[in-house]
Amino acid sequence: MEALKQRIRTSGRALNSQVLLVDMFLNNQVDCALMDEIGEEFKRLFEAEGVTKVVTIESSGIAPAAMTSLRMGVPMIILKKATSVILSDGILQTEVFSFTKRTSYQLTLKTEFIQPGERVLLIDDFLANGEAAMGASKLIERAGGKVVGIGAVISKNFQPGMQRLKEAGYNVKSLAEIVNMGEGFVEFADNEGEKA
Ligand code: G4P
Repeated sequence: MEALKQRIRTSGRALNSQVLLVDMFLNNQVDCALMDEIGEEFKRLFEAEGVTKVVTIESSGIAPAAMTSLRMGVPMIILKKATSVILSDGILQTEVFSFTKRTSYQLTLKTEFIQPGERVLLIDDFLANGEAAMGASKLIERAGGKVVGIGAVISKNFQPGMQRLKEAGYNVKSLAEIVNMGEGFVEFADNEGEKA
């Protein structure tokens, strides 16, 4: 998605070879007009899949997922991150380890929001190691839903997440695929080496 890549070039900042700061438009300050374009693009990419729910993970996935849900005309469900196991009916949890943040949490789904047979589009801001997306997919499937698509706003394809999800059979799309980055530069999959 050219507008997104352009925004990464102008407002993103690669801190090192692993971490891209996008606080200016995605993680802290949110450019809702850009999120709206992102929602439209995800709709275009996944509208043939018969999506009945958009699912995301708090917190930074919410803005792009909300716009996608609005554009597709289906509800958005938020998976919460709990610090401990909750023993309660109607709740499914799985532990997710974040390599980037070096912490783990209990990804939590209230099952009343995913009915058996539901066709789910999972949307998140970053795809890095794929731990969050794998955990979320597991929860949706345990609730009886089918993950018909996974959309990442930004994927770091030099980390294993994209490959892992594809090998697991998921239909994964990223709007900005980064193949290499380092202090001051970001290179996208179509080999456009650009400053960021
Ligand atoms: P994974 O889920 O793909 O395995 O990724 P990982 O554990 O490595 O990343 C966990 C958190 O770090 C996620 O945020 C993810 O969005 C964020 N993250 C990963 N790589 C980058 C990056 O290069 N830049 C930025 N800005 N964030 C990155 P989170 O813990 O879910 O936080 P949030 O959604 O509440 O913001």
